[in-house]
Amino acid sequence: MPPPRFLKFPPRFSWGTATSTTQIEGHIQNEWTDFVARDGRTCHPACDSYHRYAEDIQWMNRLGVNAYRMGIEWSRLQPAAYASLDQKELARYCDQLDRLNEAGIVPMVVLHHFSNPPWLNAIGGWTNAEAIPAFVDYATKLAQALRERVRIWNTFNEPDTYACCGYLIAEFPPQQKGQLVAYRKIIRQMADAHQQVCRVIRGIGSALGPVEVGFSKNWTFFQPYQKQFPWDVFIATFLHSQMNSYVLESFLGEGRHASSSFLGVNYYGRIRFKNFQPLVPTFGFSCDDLAKMGVACDDMLERYPPGLKVALDTMYQKYRLPIYVTEHGSASSDEHFRERDLKENLASLHSAIEHGVDVRGFYYWSLLDNFEWQFGYSKKFGLIGVDFDDEKLPRRMKMLGEIYRGICQENGFLPGKSAQNGHA
Ligand code: FCB
Repeated sequence: MPPPRFLKFPPRFSWGTATSTTQIEGHIQNEWTDFVARDGRTCHPACDSYHRYAEDIQWMNRLGVNAYRMGIEWSRLQPAAYASLDQKELARYCDQLDRLNEAGIVPMVVLHHFSNPPWLNAIGGWTNAEAIPAFVDYATKLAQALRERVRIWNTFNEPDTYACCGYLIAEFPPQQKGQLVAYRKIIRQMADAHQQVCRVIRGIGSALGPVEVGFSKNWTFFQPYQKQFPWDVFIATFLHSQMNSYVLESFLGEGRHASSSFLGVNYYGRIRFKNFQPLVPTFGFSCDDLAKMGVACDDMLERYPPGLKVALDTMYQKYRLPIYVTEHGSASSDEHFRERDLKENLASLHSAIEHGVDVRGFYYWSLLDNFEWQFGYSKKFGLIGVDFDDEKLPRRMKMLGEIYRGICQENGFLPGKSAQNGHA
């Protein structure tokens, strides 16, 4: 076997981390405020990043990242539809953005990440067409207010996860089941809002340089565990059509891709079905039992590093937009497993770039251990650990954080080289 080759990424490649408001800020008033997760806990106070963002930026400095994908929480800024922006809340986000820019960490701001202000939820959230002009109004005011501080905007995070978990499988508020019509309507309405917001943001521009705007699509492979089981083939094909193709076509199909300047891709892996059951730990299987079936999982779903290249290739061939991998990460208490997962996925990303896909950056999910929605604090995705049992919420660098720092510094890595023989 030839010795492994150092995988160098393109010059000016963005190395970042990602978070979302509900998962880290705390002190939030949206549909998640009273939601009790499976560990019996709520999103309050999460990592208390609402107060501790300056410290979080110092941690980013220590990691050596040059990019950060962060949310701005709509419910903090508009107490009612079409209201002017709350100046105190805006000033806090401005301070956070100033500190990031001063530290040389380029912010990508996400406008919608699984949460709405209470007044929008009260009228049915994104099932109501009123959501579209209200969101466009918010985005317009925010883009105007932040044109000196933000150059990269991300309209929606994973519309499919939001609509599926809230309206098909009852895992997110408002916890409805089987509402396929609502699911499809939400996707269409978010796609409409996305088109309009792209035009608005391009019009407003940014004082920091050429403005970029896109949305983040979560790409999951859905596959049958055994090809000879027609029902599993059927489920996988159906889910792929609804979760991947329908969403991408609604946002980017039929000439609509021209409004976006990039495509964000969130990639974790795949879900395979056996006798209608998804083979994932979150569906009650143990990681060990799954491993015996050849299904290698983190604490959430099956890892499938070669799929990242396939997903990037497929979407790039079809829509020809520059891509940011806006999320990838793993949840496990085994840092060696996480190191392997990161490096295998980055190697796959690297080979997509070599194959001609225009990938501009990678944002590790996540900066911090945080509130993982329906699972609460049990899933550890952080590069930085947070002790949620200590009310001071102390942060600490994890082994994977050290490894990621090396990758950011060197703009690449040597596959196969593990923490035991060097990096950490
Ligand atoms: C993605 C979400 C993010 C986090 C990761 C693990 O689907 O966008 O908020 O939950 O999964």
